[in-house]
Amino acid sequence: MDGLRVEGLGKEYGDVAAVGDLSFEVRPGEIVGLLGPNGAGKTTTLHALAGLVHPTSGRAYLDGVPIERRKALVGFVPEQPEVFPLLTVEEHLGFVARAYSLAPGWEAAGRAILRRLHLEEVSDRVGGALSKGMKQKLLIACALLHQPKLLLVDEPMVGLDPAGQRELVQSLREVKLEGTAVLLSTHILSSAEEICDRVVILQRGRLIAQGTLQEITAQSGSLQEAFLGLTEAE
Ligand SMILES: Nc1ncnc2c1ncn2[C@@H]1O[C@H](COP(=O)(O)OP(=O)(O)OP(=O)(O)O)[C@@H](O)[C@H]1O
Ligand SMILES: [Mg+2]
Repeated sequence: MDGLRVEGLGKEYGDVAAVGDLSFEVRPGEIVGLLGPNGAGKTTTLHALAGLVHPTSGRAYLDGVPIERRKALVGFVPEQPEVFPLLTVEEHLGFVARAYSLAPGWEAAGRAILRRLHLEEVSDRVGGALSKGMKQKLLIACALLHQPKLLLVDEPMVGLDPAGQRELVQSLREVKLEGTAVLLSTHILSSAEEICDRVVILQRGRLIAQGTLQEITAQSGSLQEAFLGLTEAE
């Protein structure tokens, strides 16, 4: 199967089971929301898929290949937008292009991404002089530059103003149209409702529900009601 397939993923920190027996899929061109209360295991799941932590159990595959062998095809945007303080926005893209050995011509793609995220006007500004939302968008631009097949985004809406949130939603929709599989964690259920095709809901590291927005909201009407009903029932 193409896209991301997660099979029985688990991660323990000492005796804390951060994630256990987690299985789900994200198909190409699909945006899946990873939802759950604080401490549910969303960041741990994204870190395991991005290769930042070693899972204790389970496997994940991207286009049928173990994901640890497909790192060049994965883009990851962390929750804390940490950028290089002394590199300009443009230089960040240059850094990524070199790190991924991108073919000549990446500059045009980079400029298009900066334009789409409204970062063009700050392309000469150094990382240390960017606002939190701009840093967030810069890291998204960096994660998109190498045209990943899987984009992992941790809490992308936090710190973005309403215009920034709208641009981000628009950008994620474009990424989706290009056939990229997108997995994003968020607490902002209205955004999840707006852009996600499906959601995966975690609680205490376990999957408690997954389905299309329609399936999840069929009984309660809104994603918020469904989420609260599911997580409070546990
Ligand atoms: N490095 C670590 N060492 C020990 N425990 C950890 C570590 N990272 C996470 N945990 C624990 O794993 C569990 C899941 O944490 P995680 O950060 O994945 O949750 P989350 O769903 O991203 O939460 P939030 O919504 O607050 O971002 C929590 O109990 C957390 O305390
Ligand atoms: Mg988190």
